[in-house]
Amino acid sequence: MTVECVVGLQWGDEGKGKIVDALAEKFELIVRFAGGANAGHTVVFDGQQFILHLIPTGILHPGKSCIIANGVAFDPETFFLEVKGLHASGYETEGRLFVSDRAHVVFPYHKRLDLLREKARGAGKIGTTARGIGPCYADKASRIGVRVCDLVEPETLRHMLSQNAAQKNDLFTSQGFAAIDEPSLLEKFADFGKRLKPYMRETRPLIADALNEGRSVLFEGAQGALLDIDHGTYPYVTSSNTGLDGVSSSTGVPLRKVDRVSGVVKSYCTRVGDGPFPTEQPGPIGEHLQQKGGEFGATTGRPRRCGWLDLVAVRYTAAINGVDALTLTKLDVLGGLEEIRVATSYECGGREITEFPASLEVLSTVKPKYEVFDGWQDDITGARELGDLPGSTVKYLRALEEMLGIPIAVVSLGSSREQTIYLDS
Ligand code: GDP
Ligand code: IMO
Ligand code: MG
Repeated sequence: MTVECVVGLQWGDEGKGKIVDALAEKFELIVRFAGGANAGHTVVFDGQQFILHLIPTGILHPGKSCIIANGVAFDPETFFLEVKGLHASGYETEGRLFVSDRAHVVFPYHKRLDLLREKARGAGKIGTTARGIGPCYADKASRIGVRVCDLVEPETLRHMLSQNAAQKNDLFTSQGFAAIDEPSLLEKFADFGKRLKPYMRETRPLIADALNEGRSVLFEGAQGALLDIDHGTYPYVTSSNTGLDGVSSSTGVPLRKVDRVSGVVKSYCTRVGDGPFPTEQPGPIGEHLQQKGGEFGATTGRPRRCGWLDLVAVRYTAAINGVDALTLTKLDVLGGLEEIRVATSYECGGREITEFPASLEVLSTVKPKYEVFDGWQDDITGARELGDLPGSTVKYLRALEEMLGIPIAVVSLGSSREQTIYLDS
């Protein structure tokens, strides 16, 4: 039995979806524990592409069970759209997909608040996905949130919606928006509640039973550690704990039950929202990475900012997640570059720093110090074992392991399931 957690170690979009899908074969239960429909996890196999925002990617493995845990900001609209898409592609969901009755619900007013708060920040906007994530978690912390279990209690739901309307309508009307239409919202979300009944469960015991029965469980992280509300580049972060710390609070499974943490690292860095990015390459290097890597947001379609791999950041995020092994993705995208750079420390006011700084002022003025590697010109997308890779590629992999002090267990060289090399098996 294994209990494994897959977490992103950069600013999201590291390729978690592909890797969770590739690993899911070995697991019986796959659990999504962070964020909401702000995620976009891409899975490619048999020439087909699926992008899942809310439902764990394990759902694409018939026979596996999937859970959306308490800590997820649950958007019923996205959920039913995804369920519909899965059914249309021949995937069953009932009986193997479960949603926590304690998860907080995203309402349309959260999405509107998301936009209004971004507008109010002006040039300092976060660059959110506009999926209502921040306002939903803010309501949870303010103890005015509505949970999935409330959707099947019409009187409770009516009361909570009217509380929310009283709190939010002044802002909406002062900004020229209509007030929250309580009756139609009540009808719509009570209907979601009815449709959710086959899926709604107390999910903690489902996971605990699986563990007690010796079944293997995979926790599928969303976002990345640099977007974590506590450890990331605050305030340019999302509003949940995206790493290992999120597993316990979101699912009710004690952290000591997790046997292994896999950290997913893209071979370079991308960032889709605003905020500091020390190794960003706005010139031809960034263009190469963006074009060859197809770096456009899976949720918003926005072009992703691109730059060199930053080991100051990855050392930090690997440490806070207790990463046992790394998965290095999109190695193929570096092909064709004459030289490959990796930031190993920063220079700040004449001093060299190796710790990832908290201050945004510092982070936006540091100068990365790079280690330079020879590139490779060969197409490596067909490689299936280490021996198929050019010498300079292997040298790069080994150097990363040494600089981070963590073994690389999986290498990804393309978006398809089979374009994967397993080094530790
Ligand atoms: P996630 O949010 O971490 O699941 O990552 P996304 O799905 O948002 O973005 C990763 C993108 O890279 C998707 O388009 C994947 O299909 C693609 N991808 C994943 N791994 C690889 C790889 O090794 N090579 C290439 N070229 N593309 C990959
Ligand atoms: P996956 O799981 C990349 C970013 C947004 C923005 C910040 C806050 O696909 O890796 P939010 O809508 O969460 O309030 O936005 O976080 N962001 C992501 N960036 N991948 C994601 O998820 C992201 N989820 C949120 O772009 O910068
Ligand atoms: Mg993504």
